[in-house]
Amino acid sequence: MPAGDRIADVDAVPDDSTLLVTVADRESDEEREVVLVRTGDGVAAWFNYCQHWRDVNLDTGDGAAIRDDELVCKRHGATFESDSGECTFGPCEGAVLDELPVEIADGTVFLDDDGYGFVRVGASESGEDDDIHRSTESRIGF
Ligand code: FES
Repeated sequence: MPAGDRIADVDAVPDDSTLLVTVADRESDEEREVVLVRTGDGVAAWFNYCQHWRDVNLDTGDGAAIRDDELVCKRHGATFESDSGECTFGPCEGAVLDELPVEIADGTVFLDDDGYGFVRVGASESGEDDDIHRSTESRIGF
């Protein structure tokens, strides 16, 4: 059994969208939103912000679009490979989404990072999610 917290059943992660979950930094208690996506052989977890404008969420609560195994940012249409997180098209082409390590065991997704604990399935309720990323100063390009 993995040491990290249980997040969700693999079956809860849709094939054509994302499952939004909230985790918390164990030291600061800061909540962070993460999107779980299906990959060819499992599930990957990416922090819930675009690499173009980091104050833009990929999943705003209703699931991000997945097209041809790529996660799509609704704002300007950047696409990110579900398994590697690399942007293959759009204004941040070549950038890579920030990953939260997870592992799969017995059809279940577990955290694989001692620094975070699972909080809930769904959006952060603290209103503090990703404050460090929300500044428009973190925007690149147009
Ligand atoms: S904010 Fe995501 S593509 Fe521009």
